Amino acid sequence: MFEIIPDRKAYRRLQHLLPAHRTMLADPVRNRAFFEALRRSVTSRSRVLDVGAGTGIWAIAAARLGARRVVAIEKERLLIPLIRRLAEE
Ligand SMILES: C[S@@+](CC[C@H](N)C(=O)[O-])C[C@H]1O[C@@H](n2cnc3c(N)ncnc32)[C@H](O)[C@@H]1O
Repeated sequence: MFEIIPDRKAYRRLQHLLPAHRTMLADPVRNRAFFEALRRSVTSRSRVLDVGAGTGIWAIAAARLGARRVVAIEKERLLIPLIRRLAEE
């Protein structure tokens, strides 16, 4: 994780950002609803655009559900290396 924190300011920003994403990711009702919506919609012909990807969880889910192509867009630059790493894993 350390290579994604370029400086002290970014570290403080991540201390604010990560708990917000942790809260969203820990909400089983939300997660089930989002995943079910993707499961019903995504096929091997799908091209998925995830705008406001956060940690990339739904872009990754779409890829795992077999989408042909997935693009994740996130305005918070500090989250980009995290999305990349999770997608690779
Ligand atoms: C409520 S979070 C949802 C994150 C993720 N989609 C999820 O469901 O866990 C919204 C995300 O959208 C990003 N965001 C907000 N406005 C954006 C924009 N104009 N372009 C790209 N990302 C944006 C925020 O930085 C934040 O990470």
